[in-house]
Amino acid sequence: MTDPYYSDDTLSLLLGDARNVLATMDMGSVNCVVTSPPYFGLRDYEGHGDQIGSESSPARYVAALAEVFAGARRVLADDGTLWLNLGDCYYSGRGNPGPNSADEKQPARRGWTRPLDRSGQDWAKPKDLLGIPWRVAFALQDAGWYLRNAIVWHKPNAMPESVRDRLAGRHEMLFLLTKSRRYWFDLDAIREPHAESTIAAAHRARRPYEAPGQRPNTKSRPLGDKGANPGDVWSINTRPLTEAHFATFPVELPRPCIAAGCRPGGTVLDPFSGAGTTALAAQQLGRRAIGIDINAKYHNIALKRMSDAPLPFGEAS
Ligand SMILES: C[S@@+](CC[C@H](N)C(=O)[O-])C[C@H]1O[C@@H](n2cnc3c(N)ncnc32)[C@H](O)[C@@H]1O
Repeated sequence: MTDPYYSDDTLSLLLGDARNVLATMDMGSVNCVVTSPPYFGLRDYEGHGDQIGSESSPARYVAALAEVFAGARRVLADDGTLWLNLGDCYYSGRGNPGPNSADEKQPARRGWTRPLDRSGQDWAKPKDLLGIPWRVAFALQDAGWYLRNAIVWHKPNAMPESVRDRLAGRHEMLFLLTKSRRYWFDLDAIREPHAESTIAAAHRARRPYEAPGQRPNTKSRPLGDKGANPGDVWSINTRPLTEAHFATFPVELPRPCIAAGCRPGGTVLDPFSGAGTTALAAQQLGRRAIGIDINAKYHNIALKRMSDAPLPFGEAS
């Protein structure tokens, strides 16, 4: 494995282009990948020529990500899971930065579905929604991944958009992909309390004869006491991180992915680790974490966040 930028018993931070770094890691050495790659055409992470997101077309962007995830597939255990967060954007064709494009000073603007400000391209018409997340998902499916869920990350606090001829964007996608048909998945770890209405309906269904001649509902099944399946729409507020100057996801996003998709004691990888939110979630859940980023500045932010974070429950001295 590449010499780590930082390493201890539970965390390794590796520096470089994810495509190269992944090639140095052992096959099958991680149990779960949770990541949010740079979005297409939108931000400059000062990663020079190798940074992803600055490709000249959606097809090239998808090809670059497909290469990263081919590497991730090699290092993922056969029963491992990949949780991939991606947002979409519109093509503006204006050729100059719009009010909400690569806005480094406003990480909170991540909540926006942003225009891509480039002129003279023939792969989209101005105003087209590019459908980037699904393009990537289909490419990964074609490369052999099983696409198991398309989770909508609904952002209740998404920034308003000053548009008048379409609806404002308030979600991003979170895809669950797996390497194999059967894989590690602990649904019980992320179950939610049953809704009041479901509990009431279950009680009603189980009540014996209410009126003469009424039959019990034999089709109804008692509610399990483990809680409900959380479903594929997750409402989580964005939480901008001032020091990162770019879009970090809130720790509430990777946490359920790791709780359900990484076996206890396993290792979680983020090949675009940025300010280390995935590693933070892994730390909170007692899993080991590996983060790869092309820019050392972000690893330093991640290290500071991890050392500032309270120890997981039960380990505080
Ligand atoms: C959207 S940010 C990830 C944010 C992260 N989820 C968090 O919450 O902090 C994307 C990251 O990918 C990094 N990056 C860009 N191109 C890369 C490449 N080729 N290899 C590795 N990292 C890259 C950027 O430096 C940036 O930190």
